[in-house]
Parts: sequence; structure tokens; C-alpha cells
Amino acid sequence: MKISVLGAGHIGLSTSLSFAHFGHEVLVLDVDSEKIALLSDAKTQIFEPGLEPLLKNSLLQNKISFSTDYGKIADFSDLIFICIGTPTRPGKGCDLTAIDLALDSLIATKMKNLVVVIKSTVPPGTTAHYQQKFQNFHFVSSPEFLREGQALQDAIHPDRVVVGGSSKRAVHILKELYRPFLKSESDFIEMDSTSAELSKYAANSFLAARISLINEFSVLCEKFGADIESVATALGKDHRIGPHFLKAGIGYGGSCFPKDIEALIYFSHAHETETPLLKAVQMVNENQIQRFIQKIKNSFAFQESKLLTLWGVAFKPETNDIREAPSLKIVEALLLDGFSLQIYDPVSNREFESHFKMHPQLNQISFFDDKMQALKNSSALAILTEWNEFRLVSLEEIQVALKNIIIFDGRNLFSKQVTSKNSRFYHGIGIRPFE
Ligand code: UGA
Repeated sequence: MKISVLGAGHIGLSTSLSFAHFGHEVLVLDVDSEKIALLSDAKTQIFEPGLEPLLKNSLLQNKISFSTDYGKIADFSDLIFICIGTPTRPGKGCDLTAIDLALDSLIATKMKNLVVVIKSTVPPGTTAHYQQKFQNFHFVSSPEFLREGQALQDAIHPDRVVVGGSSKRAVHILKELYRPFLKSESDFIEMDSTSAELSKYAANSFLAARISLINEFSVLCEKFGADIESVATALGKDHRIGPHFLKAGIGYGGSCFPKDIEALIYFSHAHETETPLLKAVQMVNENQIQRFIQKIKNSFAFQESKLLTLWGVAFKPETNDIREAPSLKIVEALLLDGFSLQIYDPVSNREFESHFKMHPQLNQISFFDDKMQALKNSSALAILTEWNEFRLVSLEEIQVALKNIIIFDGRNLFSKQVTSKNSRFYHGIGIRPFE
């Protein structure tokens, strides 16, 4: 099939490459000419495992092309995927302006009977509203469930494909398109468009709620001298609960959970429906970050020099994305409190530096290309992202490199190495003090 994808961000690119991988011809459009030029040259601005090799290969085989010219769609295909960002504006909900502009560009092509698949996360009722407004097109909602860091894997082998809409033609085309992607026909789930949109919010809310619940229990573990890792293992063995998304830490971040939960709370309230559980999920997440900051500040209360090393600033491993990362709030609070920070992240130093480039206390941050160098002269280490390479270092090596040997392990990477000798220097999340 010939497929056009609007939006060359994380989702648009991974989705496009998954189609190219299955032999389809894909035209990717974006308004950002710099991004399009880079992609045409097989380069990306995002760090995502496997993305560049597949991009290079798909370009060589002429399976993918990039453009800023929406007019090209007219000669290309009538199957369009919308993968455009829908940012949440504080106190204003989900901003659909970019999708509206893209739809205007589609109207301008004068094409009729386009099948328009909305992959972007949009408030319930949006697809139905567009269907009502643009009756010449066939709209369906097919939300994406890709995780950053595993986006290609998720795009090529999805757990399920959700398709919501009333156009039989559109549903039939998508069923054919996704057949080779799915293990079983029952993984293609048809419904109305509003249920499809809510399925996406429900999935992200459910996962975020699990994280907040395990984080709340980490607080109880610290209070009562219990161990969150043992509690999570016991929970995960219950087949009704399962082991995933039960890692206690410094709270969820990224471009999805915080934004989607905020948008759903806002949208529901605007429609006179309250969502107390979602508000609690959000509050627990915020508290978890603040508790971590407070632990660090308390430890340094009587120290003259406040020099701290941070390992990892990306919102999770295998990505250079720092959007809504807990590290942003942690660094902001520590800078205000007079800390000097030595930062190492395997791929996100540049993004982080650029985020803080206008900060009046930028001079309190130095960036390092080597994690052990970043420990030099530092009093303490805080681990904010669980990059695999950190696991290869032993707690002893870290202790030797640090001046005052205090470790704030926001991801419990070293909890298993804690012994009676080092336990008083180690602050994990919900970890039982060693006796
Ligand atoms: C999330 C969903 O997992 C995807 O299914 C969805 O498609 C995507 O949002 C989206 O809406 O586009 P993503 O944000 O890439 O994917 O990352 P996750 O792996 O879900 O992690 C989100 C946050 O939760 C990270 O900050 C991570 O550190 C944190 N987390 C995750 C925990 O603190 N504990 C866990 O056990 C798992």
C-alpha cells in the first residue's frame, strides 16, 4: 500500500518505518524543514534503538520518503496517518491546533474519500467531531501504544491494534494493513472512535496508577522498615496483577503519562465529571519527586560544600528524551538550594544543557562524558535514570570514587549490593535499612 504519515516525531517515524519494514511505500510529511532534511539524509534528532539502521535501509530501498509539501499527498495515497503532537497547555487541556492545521492542508489538496487514521492521543469525541465536520473523509481513531526506547519493537509487534470508527471501508483497509503485524486476528480490536480514544487514556492512566501505587507503598516500606522490592515481587507473582510497572522510583515522567493524565483531568472537569483517582495518581507522583529532593537536601544540611553528581537525566533509559523527566524538577530545586552538580547521561547531556541554557544558575552545572570522572571531588551521587551501564559499576567502586560516599539511588539499582558496611551511606526508594 501507499501510506502518508503526517508528523515525523517519535511516533510518526516509528510508525512509518514499521510500514516500510512490511514492504509498504511511505511518504512522511512534517512542517519542520530541518527535521525533514536530516531524515532524508538518514539522520534523526532522536535516540531510539534500531531507528537509524532501519531508516537507512528503507531509504535505500525507496520505501520511505520525506517532504514538507502536503500537496504531494494528492499524487501519493488516500490512506493518511496523523501522528502529530497534542501538547497539554497547563490549565487549558490538550492543544489540537497542529492537527487542525494538518486537516486544513488535506482539505486544500481537494482530495475526496481520504481514510484519515488518528494515531495522536486526542480527547474523547475528537474523531467523531472531525467526522461530522469533514464528511468527505473517513475518520478512524487508532491510538498508538508505543514506548520510547522500544518504539520500533512495539510498532512492528504490537500487543493489539485498536481501531474505532464507523467507516467500514477504513476498518477493512486497516485490517488488511495490520494482518501481518499481529499474532492473532483477535488482536485487531474494533469499536467506536470515542471508546478507542478512551482506551488509550485508560492504558496510560492504568500504568501510571500502578507506578503511583507502588511508590506510595515505597513510602510505607520506609516508614515501617520493609522492603519495596520484596513487596513488588510478591505482588507481581499474582497472575491477576502481573510483574510489570511495579518498579518504585522517583516518579514517572516523559511526554505521555504526565500530559495525558493532566489532559484527562482537565477535559473531564470541563465536562462536569471529576476524576479523583487520577488526581491522586498525579499527586503521589509529584510527592515522590519532592521526597527525593528533600532526602538529598537533608543529608547536606550541615555540609559546607554541596557538590553532587547526577547519573542519568533522561526520563527513562534508551532515550535522549528529557521531557517532563523527574531530573528537571530535581535539578531546578537543587540549584536553587545552592548545589553544584556534575552531570553524566550516556545520551542526554546535550538536551539537558540546552534546556538549562538560559538558567541563571547554569554555571553551577558541569557536564561529563565519563560517569567515573563525574564522581571526582563530589560528595555524593544521585541516580535518576536506570541506564544499564550503571549496573556494571559496583557500589564499592562508587564508594572509592566519592568523597563523602552518600548514594541516593532513585532507581534502586544497587539495593541488592547493600550490606551492613555500606547501608548507612545508601538511600534507596522503599529499601529496608540493613541491620
Ligand atoms: C508510555 C506507555 O508505556 C506507552 O504504551 C504509550 O504509547 C506512551 O506512553 C505514549 O502515550 O505515547 P513511555 O512514556 O515511552 O510510554 O514510557 P514508559 O516505559 O511507559 O515509562 C514512563 C515513565 O514511567 C518513565 O518515567 C519510567 O521511568 C516510569 N516507570 C515505568 C516507573 O517509574 N516504574 C515502572 O515500573 C515503569
